[in-house]
Amino acid sequence: MTARTRGGEVMKLIPRFFSYYRPHRRLFILDLICSFLISVCNMFYPMIARNIMNDYVPNQNLRLLVVWAIVMAAIYAVKSVLTYIVGYWGHVLGVRIQGDMRRALFRHIETLPFSYFDENKTGGIMSRIVNDLFEVSELAHHGPEDLFNSLISVVGALVMLCLINPWLALIVLIYIPFMLFFAIKARDRMNRAFDESRKKIAEVNAEIESSVSGVRITKAYNAEATETKKFDAVNARFKKARSDSYRAMGMFQGGMSAFNDFLYLIALVAGGLLFYKGVISGADFTAFILYVTMLLTPLRTLVTLFEQIQDGITGFRRFCDLMDRPPEYEPEHPVESDLDGDIVFDDVTFGYKNAEGGDTEVLKGISFTVKKGETVALVGSSGGGKTTICHLLPRFYLRDGGAISIGGTDINDVTSELLRSKIAVVAQDVFLFAGSIRDNILYGSPDKSEAEMVMAAKRANIHDYVMTLPNGYDTEVGERGVRLSGGQKQRISIARAFLKDPPVLILDEATSALDNMTEMQIQSALSELSEGRTTLVVAHRLSTVKNADEILVVTDGNISERGTHDELVALGGLYAELYRYQFRE
Ligand SMILES: Nc1ncnc2c1ncn2[C@@H]1O[C@H](COP(=O)(O)OP(=O)(O)O)[C@@H](O)[C@H]1O
Ligand SMILES: [Mg+2]
Repeated sequence: MTARTRGGEVMKLIPRFFSYYRPHRRLFILDLICSFLISVCNMFYPMIARNIMNDYVPNQNLRLLVVWAIVMAAIYAVKSVLTYIVGYWGHVLGVRIQGDMRRALFRHIETLPFSYFDENKTGGIMSRIVNDLFEVSELAHHGPEDLFNSLISVVGALVMLCLINPWLALIVLIYIPFMLFFAIKARDRMNRAFDESRKKIAEVNAEIESSVSGVRITKAYNAEATETKKFDAVNARFKKARSDSYRAMGMFQGGMSAFNDFLYLIALVAGGLLFYKGVISGADFTAFILYVTMLLTPLRTLVTLFEQIQDGITGFRRFCDLMDRPPEYEPEHPVESDLDGDIVFDDVTFGYKNAEGGDTEVLKGISFTVKKGETVALVGSSGGGKTTICHLLPRFYLRDGGAISIGGTDINDVTSELLRSKIAVVAQDVFLFAGSIRDNILYGSPDKSEAEMVMAAKRANIHDYVMTLPNGYDTEVGERGVRLSGGQKQRISIARAFLKDPPVLILDEATSALDNMTEMQIQSALSELSEGRTTLVVAHRLSTVKNADEILVVTDGNISERGTHDELVALGGLYAELYRYQFRE
């Protein structure tokens, strides 16, 4: 409930919210009708009680008493069935709406560009899919039903009160707004105080975590007293915040209890006076008290609902914000192309957009060509823009200026699906999905045969290792499975690339995280992989790029030197310096 949603905005959100009911409208109507009937059922008791006391008992009409008792029993039986329907199908409705929303959100997130995932961390995205939608769906199934129900009950009870005696009804009618106003204000204050104490307990936890993980240093420096003092400070802040929230809670509960009790008292005194004066009968008086009692439950529901609506709207607004984020770029009229040919970067400029929409230029006019089947290497100090160049080719980010084409086709003219099907990327960090080794190699090429998969693994030099595992290719990897070394993971990602078999290959520091020995072993697989493919390779160790057809030295978003290994060494510039340095190693 942090950022409140403004009125006008809410008006726009409501139709959008209800559009999610459309596929389930029959269930929704069923739910509303049943809730309505439950409220109607509840109206009977005071009315029948009144008749019994006013009429049947004084007139000794035992037959009618029995008849009405049977009618009531029947009404209660029906109400029980209705309550079951609302309890079951009403929640099913909410769950279905929640499921639809979550699915829409998940699909949408999958279409978002890389930049979205740079800005938002996994935990934040998860909380949006899980927590926000939970609040929204709570509102989706309780909201309309509770609102409808409570309004019906309140209006119904007020009408009944009016029928008994308009003056009595008026007293109640004047009293209710004060009560509601107090309830909403006090609850709001209470929620805010609880939010605050939740923040404080998070601080206490952080403090404990930091102290406990640093306890060895604390002991080594005899700093226990300092730690205790720091802890006492946050703990005291927590105690204060928690006490404040309980004070707010106490005030809410105390106030509500007073408002309830005074309503009874007023009803009793006012009704008693009218009864005393002979304006109403004893039975009317009883029915009046019963209807006043009946009024309190829906009023309490309305107060809770008010809060649920606020949370739900905040959640739904966040949901809409995310749904409205534009998906990744796709051309309006995509062309077909086999994208097999020279890669040409022509005066390409690019800058990552920061949160404020501005950007700092990372690539300042990059031009180069990778001839079909050849290899171009990018080298240079870190932060120069090599990875960025690699990201522009599969359109992970959209270039700002200049042109990038493959085989004469501008990469912006083909669908991402086509473009990415023609490019394999092997980067430094390998991500393995939870699942078997087979699933991971087949990732992205699920239609390939077992023989092709094994062949790819052999070429990536991982087959022999897999064969030593008890379950072979069915061995689970990741959290629940075997722990693979960096080199083994990298081989799996190379196997993926072999299996995909695309014309274009990007190797971005594929071996940089590995030790020299492993790098040497993997290098042969990489050389085989780049055989016959148009390859862009970024490498840290120059020994691995010596044989490239052209080497580009990237510094600060520009290409500062270019040529073959021998040419660059002869040039005596940055490359030659780096090479001499590494050679000395
Ligand atoms: N996702 C990103 N968002 C914003 N800035 C980035 C992002 N990735 C890289 N940068 C910045 O772009 C510059 C070039 O980075 P990068 O292409 O990764 O360099 P290299 O691969 O040559 O080490 C660096 O200044 C880096 O901080
Ligand atoms: Mg990099």
